[in-house]
Amino acid sequence: MKNILMVCLGNICRSPIAHGILIDKAKKHNLQLCVDSAGTGSWHSGAQPDIRSINTAKKHNIDISNQKARQISTIDLDKYDIIFVMDQQNYKDVVNLCVNPEQIKKVRLILNEVKKDSNQSVPDPYYDEINGFENVFNLLKNACQNIINKLIKDEY
Ligand code: 4NP
Repeated sequence: MKNILMVCLGNICRSPIAHGILIDKAKKHNLQLCVDSAGTGSWHSGAQPDIRSINTAKKHNIDISNQKARQISTIDLDKYDIIFVMDQQNYKDVVNLCVNPEQIKKVRLILNEVKKDSNQSVPDPYYDEINGFENVFNLLKNACQNIINKLIKDEY
């Protein structure tokens, strides 16, 4: 069973949505998966996801209201098999925590699962209108479907 960690800055907007979508898709595909999410920052530790993320996910029949934000720790770099980050800054911040090449190899920009080597970022919707959250949801839905397809084919 693979362990997958979704990472963004605050762990209240983007990574909780990615976390919720991946669990939902794994269940629908009968795929055993351990999924969690974390932030590179600690400001929101212990908090529920942003209400706009909760409501956007709910609109798509995914409940993320039970998630709690936490900061990524060095233990995560060994525990998780794949660490998907939302943007370029997250990538730099997580790679900076790594102490060996095995850990660095686990860190991937999540939108590269949609378009290989494009190195695109999931836009931070925190200061956006609600449309930003719907856009984030759709980007992450596509990425998570491709992640599930690769997991099923054992391509990681
Ligand atoms: P996230 O969004 O990284 O997708 O959870 C943010 C949440 C909070 C802040 C920034 C981004 N903030 O500045 O508090």
